[in-house]
Amino acid sequence: MIKDKKKIFEAVVDKVEKVSRSAYLIETDLKEEVDVKAGQFVSIYCDGLTLRRPFSVYSCKASKIGILFKEKGKGTKYIKSLKKGDLVNITGPFGNGFTLENKKALSVGAGIGYAPVAFLKSKSDECGIENMLLCGFPNKNEIPDLVKADVICTDDGSYGIKGSVLDAAENILKDYKPQIIYACGPLIVLKKLVQTAQKYDIPVQVAMEKEMACSIGVCRGCVIRVKHDGNIVNKTVCKDGPVFWGSEVVW
Ligand SMILES: Cc1cc2nc3c(=O)[nH]c(=O)nc-3n(C[C@H](O)[C@H](O)[C@H](O)COP(=O)(O)OP(=O)(O)OC[C@H]3O[C@@H](n4cnc5c(N)ncnc54)[C@H](O)[C@@H]3O)c2cc1C
Ligand code: FES
Repeated sequence: MIKDKKKIFEAVVDKVEKVSRSAYLIETDLKEEVDVKAGQFVSIYCDGLTLRRPFSVYSCKASKIGILFKEKGKGTKYIKSLKKGDLVNITGPFGNGFTLENKKALSVGAGIGYAPVAFLKSKSDECGIENMLLCGFPNKNEIPDLVKADVICTDDGSYGIKGSVLDAAENILKDYKPQIIYACGPLIVLKKLVQTAQKYDIPVQVAMEKEMACSIGVCRGCVIRVKHDGNIVNKTVCKDGPVFWGSEVVW
């Protein structure tokens, strides 16, 4: 959490750079120190758009945060257009983030889902926790040039191991035998990863995405269904999540 609880920043853009065919890195200075957990996210005001856009934090050092984002629509096009010295309105950090346990870990990032698990990997390195980082992309051109992972796979085999991140994950589960998995990526990847992990009795923390409006648990626009005490209840991805145990999510 931010130390003085203030959650709105007029941040200064340090740089925006293209890091792959469709992804960019924006680094900003919030001008005051923040403490962000891996898996937490911030929301960015994009000029002229009513709804802020949510993004996982990719890096955080003192007052500086980095976000790795994929160009999609008007919001990300605006962020991509920002220049060094521009001001950008950022709120956050929001959500619970991953709970880093002192256990041998495997982190799985599919596509831009690499961002929060890469941040988690840097936190585990700081704490001396063994954490293998696996990530998957459609092809070589979509791999951000800043990616540092133990295993990289591409669907078309143009870089690293050929095949889906799910196949690579299953092979790693057999040999490396992690005690916990952390993951972020498209819903279908998370669902299948959780099913695979259940076969090996390994718990998974998943960072979920849902379209968001308020980001603070008020509008209920980002609700998912979760198992709780034998019942199915609604939980907000923005406030109760975005990280849930894979076993509690109603897929
Ligand atoms: C908790 C969280 C973390 C995220 N982290 C990242 C990240 O690290 N990097 C990254 O590239 N993207 C991330 N996303 C997805 C990102 O928010 C969307 O790609 C972005 O909002 C698209 O905005 P746009 O205006 O360019 O696209 P448009 O398609 O024009 O957006 C239209 C609307 O849909 C919403 N929206 C569209 N796609 C998504 C989506 N996948 N998830 C949530 N809302 C969406 C937008 O917020 C906006 O309100 C994250 C989403 C969530 C919920
Ligand atoms: S975005 Fe409003 S409750 Fe989650």
